[in-house]
Amino acid sequence: MGLARTRSVALLGVDGHTVEVEAHLGSGPAGLTLVGLPDTALREARDRIRAAVVNSGESWPEEHITVSLSPASLPKRGSGFDLAIATAILGAHGTIPAEAIHGAVFLAELGLDGRTRPVDGVLPAVLAAVRAGHTSFVVTRGNAAEARLVPDVEVIDVATLGELLARIRGDPVTIPFIDDEPEPGPGTSRPARRPDLSEVLGQPIARRAVEIAAAGAHHLMMVGPPGTGKSLLAERLPTVLPPLTRAESIEVTAVHSVAGTLPKNEPLITQAPFCAPHHTATRAAIVGGGSSTRLRPGCVSLAHRGALFLDEAPEFGRGVLDSLRQPLESGEVIVSRSAATVCFPARFLLVLAANPCPCGRSGNACTCSSPQRRRYLGRLSGPLLDRVDLKVELHPVSHAELLADRAYAESSATVAERVVQARDRASRRLAATPWTTNAEIPGSDLRRDHPVDPAALRILGAALERGEISARGVDRTIRLAWTLCDLAGRDRPGIDDTAFAFALWSGRTP
Ligand SMILES: Nc1ncnc2c1ncn2[C@@H]1O[C@H](COP(=O)(O)OP(=O)(O)OP(=O)(O)O)[C@@H](O)[C@H]1O
Ligand SMILES: [Mg+2]
Ligand SMILES: [Zn+2]
Repeated sequence: MGLARTRSVALLGVDGHTVEVEAHLGSGPAGLTLVGLPDTALREARDRIRAAVVNSGESWPEEHITVSLSPASLPKRGSGFDLAIATAILGAHGTIPAEAIHGAVFLAELGLDGRTRPVDGVLPAVLAAVRAGHTSFVVTRGNAAEARLVPDVEVIDVATLGELLARIRGDPVTIPFIDDEPEPGPGTSRPARRPDLSEVLGQPIARRAVEIAAAGAHHLMMVGPPGTGKSLLAERLPTVLPPLTRAESIEVTAVHSVAGTLPKNEPLITQAPFCAPHHTATRAAIVGGGSSTRLRPGCVSLAHRGALFLDEAPEFGRGVLDSLRQPLESGEVIVSRSAATVCFPARFLLVLAANPCPCGRSGNACTCSSPQRRRYLGRLSGPLLDRVDLKVELHPVSHAELLADRAYAESSATVAERVVQARDRASRRLAATPWTTNAEIPGSDLRRDHPVDPAALRILGAALERGEISARGVDRTIRLAWTLCDLAGRDRPGIDDTAFAFALWSGRTP
């Protein structure tokens, strides 16, 4: 009869919970019983773990083995418990000293041949275990860099179960050569050359709108005929967003860790992410979903602290567009399946691009009727557009602009510098609040703590009376005006700021 205990971590979204793994060998028919609400993947673990142990040259205890995972009430999914279960069984069997594994947290899947395999969500798992007071971790080599992102932890990385057992016993370790480079996941490939705003000619208003969006974290919509630079500009938005703070980097990396989209060798994401799903993307791909055994974050979460770009926005499914409302409102998204409900962070800057009509031909070449044109953009109307602060129209680039000297086009670096300074001003003004950008300030706080000169507000009052703007629109315009004055280095919005902000909000810029 033997007993050994160790630990792993169960993830619910990006929230980790430590799980006690206890193996008990006793009399009764030989076999392995897993208790503690294991899901189907965990049941499969039974055969995998046995094969891994035997193929590592260890004897499998021919006794009645009971492994319990607690707390039992916690849903446990996936294969990340394999290594913890295997070591607990071998500890109970006396193959390794039980006290050698007692203090560590094990996060790895096992292959039938005894190799350890990477699991998703290692960063949030380590963070959660550290919060629960644990500091020693065993992971597979491919997850080591990610686990080491957390300061002050001891990370032991092993390629096989055999290597781990040898280390515990103090045997000489022969490190097997294993080529386990996973295929890079979607979103991890880096373009060879970083795009730059200097490549965009003309479009002064749209360029300015991109800068304002980045400075105040305002949502942006660009409407214009094909080939005017909408996609070009949207793809360059990330180049002017400020780098993530350390805390934001960890937050963003944790989401991408759960999604399995982290680059292996340099797992920390330090730049604002950019997610541009195709218009055929499903609702689950956008807001998150999957099977109940594996809930994955969607684009809204992969774009957390960065930008979500919906190109050809009216072509997206109605349900998909509607599903953006909840994350836009709360900065997080709730994904539920029969067995579980999880919450993923989803605070992103929304960028929409659209043609003015379904035929996509500009000017006289357009064959669409006016109801057709109205209906097309109408797909975006209502609650979604209500949350878009900046609406700009793009016109075909003139001949003169196309031939102009490209050396005069501002680079991303120049614009990014102004964005950083504007964000600094805003964050100093908002120092005593939970918000860092103008777009986040709730309306009541905005009016109470950041009053605007009545003369500057007059234009908005008049528009309100004419029914051209709603009360919510007024708040949005004022936030925008604050960003304009932050960019200009002024202390408080003036008449010019509110007037330009109103033009941007209502889409009536020249
Ligand atoms: N303002 C611009 N400056 C420089 N090049 C441009 C500009 N606008 C368009 N182009 C050229 O046209 C190509 C298409 O531009 P882009 O994809 O941004 O157009 P779009 O407005 O998104 O059109 P569509 O509605 O068809 O998606 C670009 O790759 C670029 O070569
Ligand atoms: Mg385009
Ligand atoms: Zn048309």
